[in-house]
Amino acid sequence: MSGDGDSTRSVHAGLPPAGQGEPFLPGPTFQAGNHWSGDGAPDGYGRTGNPTWSRYEAALGELEGGEVVVLSSGMAAVAAVLLPILEPGDVLVAPADAYPGVRVIATDHLAKRGVEVRLVPSDDAAILAAIPGATLVWVETPSNPGMVLLDVAALVEAAHAAGALLAVDGTVATPLRQRALELGADFAMASASKYLSGHSDLVLGYVATRDPAHGQAIRAWRGLTGAIPGPFEVWLAHRSLPTLAVRLERQEANAAALVELLAEHRAVTDVRWPGMGAVLVFTLADADAAERFLAASRLVTDATSFGGVHATAERRGRWGTDAVPDGFIRFSAGIEDTADLVADVRAALEA
Ligand SMILES: Cc1ncc(COP(=O)(O)O)c(C=O)c1O
Repeated sequence: MSGDGDSTRSVHAGLPPAGQGEPFLPGPTFQAGNHWSGDGAPDGYGRTGNPTWSRYEAALGELEGGEVVVLSSGMAAVAAVLLPILEPGDVLVAPADAYPGVRVIATDHLAKRGVEVRLVPSDDAAILAAIPGATLVWVETPSNPGMVLLDVAALVEAAHAAGALLAVDGTVATPLRQRALELGADFAMASASKYLSGHSDLVLGYVATRDPAHGQAIRAWRGLTGAIPGPFEVWLAHRSLPTLAVRLERQEANAAALVELLAEHRAVTDVRWPGMGAVLVFTLADADAAERFLAASRLVTDATSFGGVHATAERRGRWGTDAVPDGFIRFSAGIEDTADLVADVRAALEA
């Protein structure tokens, strides 16, 4: 199937062979202790194995080009890479300006356990300069909320030359727009709470790798710490996968149209969109202007997170976790009709 297009691959990913009278995607398996005889194996207990997880992992594995382990959230996936690998004396290079979870684990937990933490801006030159001596380099591209695109292949080359592993958080891109393992990364991680599930109704994450030892280590960590997803959430996410490509196409068309509107608008500065995905960011005069914009819109829901079918936006500064201007808006284009969304945003800007 590797020669097939994105939509074809999303539709068929992870589905079992057609069986007479069988559904396309078998329903979720709810299990704790199963009927199980003979030697112990992962599938014998619900914290260590589940056929619903396995089907979704196979699906994501086809899209990412590696072995996938699904976890209870994007942050559980982050922790499953960082915590088992890094030991006292090791060096972690991590983004100072991307999704805050990684840097909080790094500064509040890893640094206290003797890991040297180097926080650097999401910028190729800054990351390259921090790599010598590193054990693990963590990057996020496009970065959230700065929407900076990094050169993964160049960073992989430098990390490997220095004997370091490289992990990429590709949540903002999805495996349809960026396949970090193909670019040589050791880990491709994403929050599936965003585009992958696509309906803003569940929390899920995963790690992909091509090294069976890493896959096994993450699986063991998941079982040991119980960072496991519910089978129903995983089934819902798998059910949403066939529409990923069409959702993304509409979201990108909407994002592109909004960028065109915003770039011309006198009330707006610093519009940034990485040219892929639904997330665009821009700045209004101040916090008041941003709140007025959010309140005035009819179609855009004031909500955090991104990648869902409904247009959402938020004043990012409200969390106090990112160094952004007070009037900074992070906007996620939904799958609404382009003309409706553009008209609504134009009207809200005038309000
Ligand atoms: C880029 C990025 N990575 C990781 C996460 C964490 O994912 P989750 O909320 O599924 O734990 C998020 C969530 O917003 C994110 O935006």
